[in-house]
Amino acid sequence: MSPYLDVESALRPRLPSPVWEVRDGRFARRGVRLLLKRDDLIHPDLPGNKWRKLAPNLRAAAAAGRRTLLTFGGAYSNHLRATAAAGRLLGFATIGVVRGDELAGRPLNPSLAQCAADGMRLVFVSRGTYRRKAEPAVLAELLDAAAPGEECFVIPEGGSNAAAAAGCLSLGRELRGVADVVAVACGTGGTLAGLAAGLAGAGSAIGFPVLRGGFLADEVESLQRAAFGSRCGDWRLDERFHCGGYAKRSAGLDAFTDDFAARHGLPLDRVYVAKALYGLTTLAEESAFPRGTTLAAVITGHGDTAP
Ligand SMILES: Cc1ncc(COP(=O)(O)O)c(C=O)c1O
Repeated sequence: MSPYLDVESALRPRLPSPVWEVRDGRFARRGVRLLLKRDDLIHPDLPGNKWRKLAPNLRAAAAAGRRTLLTFGGAYSNHLRATAAAGRLLGFATIGVVRGDELAGRPLNPSLAQCAADGMRLVFVSRGTYRRKAEPAVLAELLDAAAPGEECFVIPEGGSNAAAAAGCLSLGRELRGVADVVAVACGTGGTLAGLAAGLAGAGSAIGFPVLRGGFLADEVESLQRAAFGSRCGDWRLDERFHCGGYAKRSAGLDAFTDDFAARHGLPLDRVYVAKALYGLTTLAEESAFPRGTTLAAVITGHGDTAP
């Protein structure tokens, strides 16, 4: 077996991830329990859904004999950072295609600087090209320019493909019999797709999209169809908590996040995790859950990644 294939032995993830119960009056008053599923503790460089989504792709890349990973992201992408780290740890070369050619001549922000320090080659493309990156002709041109003559293993934006959704099955399985309702922040929807399938009806999942647009239900369904053959599990989206869109914040979200850190000693990632917990707490305060319900919020990433 190629050394790269044994991703678990090489990276030693902490699995299953721990579950912490927190005491919070906003939940206790409604007779519901709140658990935090600490996926952020799985691995320091591949936290949370990054591990669950990347591990199957890394195995597939190694099995296909590919030495170079190519993937996509915005200037603050957690996925780009995790892919760069995985490349460093496992010996893959990595190429990150970054949205926004206006960034090319500027100093790298800390997130992209970390990617570069981990050996990732950054390729900046215009927003127009980036939007069309999945079109075969555009992708072929990008590959040709970024890695001429090289057979790259291409991982989509956010790391979400069928393999990634299947990698998130384990998240749902770890929560079966532990929680009745599981909350997760959604970007591309891959984590929710696998989580809901892994719960397999033993609990329901609520996804809180962090982007505006109302397109995500279709994405989650198509990821589930690609990974599992059909829509599966009991899941829904609550679109009220994106706070204006990706990486946008509201005074309410900031106040919630600061208060949560003060109450529980846990700083939340403001781009994703805080929006899910803000949504879940609001639902609890709206008495959306019957007394006796156990809720779990998935802490999908570290709390220091705000742009
Ligand atoms: C910390 C964090 N939480 C949640 C998500 C959303 O995951 P998905 O894109 O699978 O919906 C991401 C993005 O990958 C993320 O970085």
